This record gives sequence, C-alpha cells and structure tokens, in this order.
Amino acid sequence: RGEMTVGETAKLLHKDASEVIKKLILMGVMATINQELDIDTIQLLAGEFGVEVEVKIPVEEDRFETVEENDAEEDLVSRPPVVTIMGHVDHGKTTLLDAIRKTNVTGGEAGGITQHIGAYQVEINHKKITFLDTPGHEAFTAMRARGAQVTDMTIIVVAADDGVMPQTVEAINHAKAAGLPIIVAVNKIDKPGADPDRVKQELTNYELVPEEWGGDTIFVNVSAKQRIGLEELLEMILLVAEVNEYKANPNKRARGTVIEAELDKSRGPVARILVQHGTLHVGDAFVAGNCFGRIRVMVSDKGRRLKEAGPSTPVEITGLTEVPGAGDPFMVFEDERKARSIADKRAITQRQSELNTNSRVTLDDLFKHI
Ligand code: GTP
Ligand code: MG
Repeated sequence: RGEMTVGETAKLLHKDASEVIKKLILMGVMATINQELDIDTIQLLAGEFGVEVEVKIPVEEDRFETVEENDAEEDLVSRPPVVTIMGHVDHGKTTLLDAIRKTNVTGGEAGGITQHIGAYQVEINHKKITFLDTPGHEAFTAMRARGAQVTDMTIIVVAADDGVMPQTVEAINHAKAAGLPIIVAVNKIDKPGADPDRVKQELTNYELVPEEWGGDTIFVNVSAKQRIGLEELLEMILLVAEVNEYKANPNKRARGTVIEAELDKSRGPVARILVQHGTLHVGDAFVAGNCFGRIRVMVSDKGRRLKEAGPSTPVEITGLTEVPGAGDPFMVFEDERKARSIADKRAITQRQSELNTNSRVTLDDLFKHI
C-alpha cells in the first residue's frame, strides 16, 4: 500500500530525488519519482540517510485510542460496577470470589462455570456486580498501563493472620494511582492467629482509616472459607456503586478491554473481554490490540451462549485472527475491512515504536519505584 511518492519522500528527507532513487536502487528497489513507497521502505530509506522517521497516523483513521465518551446524559443507562479484587499472594482473593459466586450462583449453573475466566458477574437482589480476580494476573498491570477505566472500585484483601504485606501495598498504590474507591476486606478472621485490628492499624500508614477511627475507608471483616461477612461486603460494594452512579451508553458500537487471551487448540484464538461501552453482538467486526476479527461465538462467564452483551459484561469470544494481549483495548468497527485496516496500522505503529525505543519502560517498572 503506497504511503508517499519518491518525490515526496525526498522532500521530507531534504534530499534530491535523484539521490533518493540512487539509494533505493542500492537497496534493491527500482523506483521512479512518482512511485509510491510503503511505510517500511520509507523508514529503511530514512535510516540509510541517518534520519529517523516518525509515523503519525491521522486521528480519524485510528479512533481507537482517542475515542472520548461524549454521550448525552439521556443516553446513559446505569450499569453494574466492575470490581477488582487485589491483594498479597495467598491472602484469599480467589477463595473470596469463589465464596461470593457460590452464594449467588444458582445450583444448576455452578457446573457450567468456566473456571479459567478471570471475570465473573454475580447478581444480588436483582443488582449485578462484575468481579475481576487478579491472581498473579498480568492483565491488571497491562490494564493500568492503558489507563483504561476498566475497573470502578477495588477490594483489597488482607489476611488477618498475616497483615499488610508488599503486594498489599502495591495493590493500594495501583488503586490510588487509578483513583479508585477502595474497600478493605480483612479475610481469614476464622483463623486462630487472626488480628483484624492490627490490619486496620497497619493500613492507617497508607491513609486507609476506618470510619470508626474517623476515616472514610470501608473495612469489612470476612472469612472466605467460613462465609462470614460476605453479605456485608456485597452490600458495601452496592453502596459504593449507588453513590457513584456508574453509567454507560448501551446503544452504540462496543468498546472494552481484553482481560486475557490464548490460543485454544480446537477453537483458535480465544479472548475474554470486558465490554465497557455500547453493546457487543455476534457478527460484529472488531479490533483487539493489533488483531482484528468478527465475533463468531460469544459465551458468558456461566458458559451460556450470548447473542449480545452490554456494558460491564465479561464475555469470552472467538473469531479472532490472532491472539491479542491482556489489557489491549477492544473496539467494534463498521465492517471487517475497516477493522483490518486499523489493526494493520496499529501493528505498524507498534513495530515503529519498538524500533525507535531502545529502553522500553513498562508500567511494571514504574510501579517498582513507588
Ligand atoms: P493468589 O491468587 O496466589 O494471589 O492467592 P489468593 O489471594 O487468591 O489466595 P487463595 O484464595 O488461593 O487462598 C490461599 C489459601 O488461603 C488457600 O489455602 C485458602 O483455602 C486459604 N483461605 C482463603 N480464605 C480463607 C479464610 O477465610 N480462612 C482460612 N482459614 N483460610 C482461607
Ligand atoms: Mg488467587
């Protein structure tokens, strides 16, 4: 696909067209002045002249990163809160989420639950909550890196017999960096050595002060194992959700974030995504990271086939051409041709930035210094 003619490229590089053509011939490209060069050739050529070319993709072409949600107030509908469970290793995040799901999933469904999916939705008193587990999940860092508003609030799980540990602090930093409301779940209160007050005391060092001590952080004592305090925790989540009135416009093309993705032996690339805006339909053409596709099959966290999925819904999709990365943004386009061209452009931009950056700093690195 042509991006620029030889003549235009010469101008860009402040060289004579003849010089450029000579260089191209040396590179094995037979070119005339009006011949169009693709972006890779232009970059190679620039390199030959010791010039770095930055590829800028016009904003209209790549609405992907730049979309702003400017929905009219009347188009916004209340949506379930997206709650991320974070905390130190083994403090009971997954057990807590399992306990919550069992409390709220009706018997018949339990067997059908896709165990590996890191995102679940539960319903309490006709109100839904979407949970994201973060078991050593790289997804979370990637999501943060995108600055995506993937999650609305954080449950920081701290084991009452272990107290505040390094990853507890890291989790608090993640939540604060993203400006998220924090609910502290002091877990394992059933254990003999449990000391919930010590956890509260320790957390005051991180500006998490319980209400009874004059602060405004919600603390709930729980035992995931013995199912103590779960109702209260859920009530608190719904309370925070009510105060914040999370809303989205369901009547537009879907956008969201990839939570995890992999290559399945029989189904091909499979991605679990969280729909955040709009409604996703079977058959929709989309871009996820640098990959594109068309939704072939869409399945809920409970293993049910879905035709459509609205805001705050976690779904598993097939129909991708490649495996996207965790944390990659996901967006539906008008047709597959458009989706493909956006994905191609994104791939080029990424390659370019990888070429230009010798020392890539990831968000992981950044958080190490907090
Ligand atoms: P990672 O995903 O590895 O970070 O761990 P996690 O935070 O998800 O912890 P997980 O839920 O896997 O629990 C770790 C261990 O703690 C398991 O052996 C659980 O059975 C145990 N555990 C979790 N909650 C409780 C609890 O409330 N009481 C007791 N006694 N044990 C618990
Ligand atoms: Mg876990």
